[in-house]
Amino acid sequence: MVEQDSQSRVAAVVIMAAGAGTRMRSAIPKVLHRVAGKSMVALAIDTADALAPDRLVVVVGHQRELVAEHLAEVAPHVTIAVQEQPLGTGDAVRAGLSALPGVSGEVVVTSGDVPLLAPETLVDLVAAHRAEANAVTVLTAVVPDPTGYGRIVREGDEIARIVEQSDATDAELGLAEINAGIYVFDAATLGEGLAALQARNTQGELYLTDVIAHARAAGRRVGALMVADYLQTEGVNDRIQLAERAAELNRRILSRWMAEGVTVLDPATTWVHAGVDLAEDVTLLPGTSLEGATSVSRGAVIGPDTTLIDVEVGENARVLRTHAELAVIGPDVTVGPFSYLRPGTELAARAHVGAFVEMKKAVIGEGAKVPHLTYCGDAVVGAGSNIGAGTIFANYDGVGKYTTTVGEHSFVGSDSVLVAPVQIADGAYVAAGSTITVDVGPGELAVSRGQQRNIKGWVERKRAGTPSAQAAAAALAAHEQEATQMESGE
Ligand code: UD1
Ligand code: CA
Repeated sequence: MVEQDSQSRVAAVVIMAAGAGTRMRSAIPKVLHRVAGKSMVALAIDTADALAPDRLVVVVGHQRELVAEHLAEVAPHVTIAVQEQPLGTGDAVRAGLSALPGVSGEVVVTSGDVPLLAPETLVDLVAAHRAEANAVTVLTAVVPDPTGYGRIVREGDEIARIVEQSDATDAELGLAEINAGIYVFDAATLGEGLAALQARNTQGELYLTDVIAHARAAGRRVGALMVADYLQTEGVNDRIQLAERAAELNRRILSRWMAEGVTVLDPATTWVHAGVDLAEDVTLLPGTSLEGATSVSRGAVIGPDTTLIDVEVGENARVLRTHAELAVIGPDVTVGPFSYLRPGTELAARAHVGAFVEMKKAVIGEGAKVPHLTYCGDAVVGAGSNIGAGTIFANYDGVGKYTTTVGEHSFVGSDSVLVAPVQIADGAYVAAGSTITVDVGPGELAVSRGQQRNIKGWVERKRAGTPSAQAAAAALAAHEQEATQMESGE
């Protein structure tokens, strides 16, 4: 995230997010669809925050309750303004200004559906607005296909007006410079222009863009900042554009991390959310997805085919083909392949979790090992202990969940069931195949299983004529012959 820039502090930012987003064909509002792990409106707010606005207003309309609920969670500092009817962008900004009585100075207007807009671009737009002493400054771009955008009609270095696709003449349709829908307005100019708006156009809407012609008629300067990186201005109207913008933002996020010393073996199959933090010399292998507030420390290697959601990974850890959520993986820990770490898992330094192990609320001590085929839920395992293959921490009795504690340097034999609540002390052993229901004291060996009996001749009697019986007979004959030879001293 870009640092707040007090130099470009503005009076207010208004984010338009009231549109229906019909082409998304979705039960949820367009601006709540996610790109790089954040809703598009949250990304717009992050970007706007770079201007350190005195007030930040989000205009909601379509499914306003859902948007407002989301904003209360992710951006409690914003003011919500309601646009009752989708009467156009001019009406949306009117609704925004009604939450800013008496505002003066600079008002920045942006959209909640332009996820690639960089904070630096907004800062540059404000700087250009001031340097040129403009009443309005419009962010523009030259795009390969301007279809659907408002076109910029220039007059020297000023903008005369903006004409929408549906209102444009053939000559105007040929203009390649488009309106990104992102502006800085002098508050008074904006207020006057909005008051004068009329829906005299093919869409019968109140166009924010008409404020520009109004400002020019009043003798004010309207300038433009053309952004060379036109992808920043591209919006999202349907799911195809959503996927394209998401892929592009991901490429940009990965490029930034690569510049900061992260190796990404295959950027095409690696996804890193906007809120992730990576250190130098982290390596991301193909098929890795780092989500939420995941952080990875120096030297750690993640992947291939690994998803980490809100996970903290320590230095030089190795996480291979793993799915983990809300877990802490300590330094020099090795996890995987095929491990499943659920919320509340904490692995101390040098611990090892291996193949087909599922953990939940499991705190594993330094250097402890849970290498194979285990369910470890509601557990505390002390430093240096070893949990044998196939051990089950039976934490649930059908009603409640209970904790199992294994002390330090203890050894649980393979295929044991530890029935919680139960405690195995420091330096204790559990024999393989045991079902443990009673606490085991320090240094004790717990054995809980049937005594073994070997019944001679059983196969010969009960499975006569089978390959097993033939194999047994041959082996017995060979033993007998060996014994005879020994006796005769050969
Ligand atoms: C608008 C601009 C166009 C520009 C384009 C950039 C106008 C008249 N046209 O067109 O020049 O090239 O953006 O993407 O402004 N919204 C509301 N309430 C409304 C209507 C829209 O809040 O009543 C919001 C939408 O949610 C969206 C933004 O305003 O976030 C832009 O609306 P949209 O309908 O996409 O505008 P365009 O017609 O594309
Ligand atoms: Ca649009």
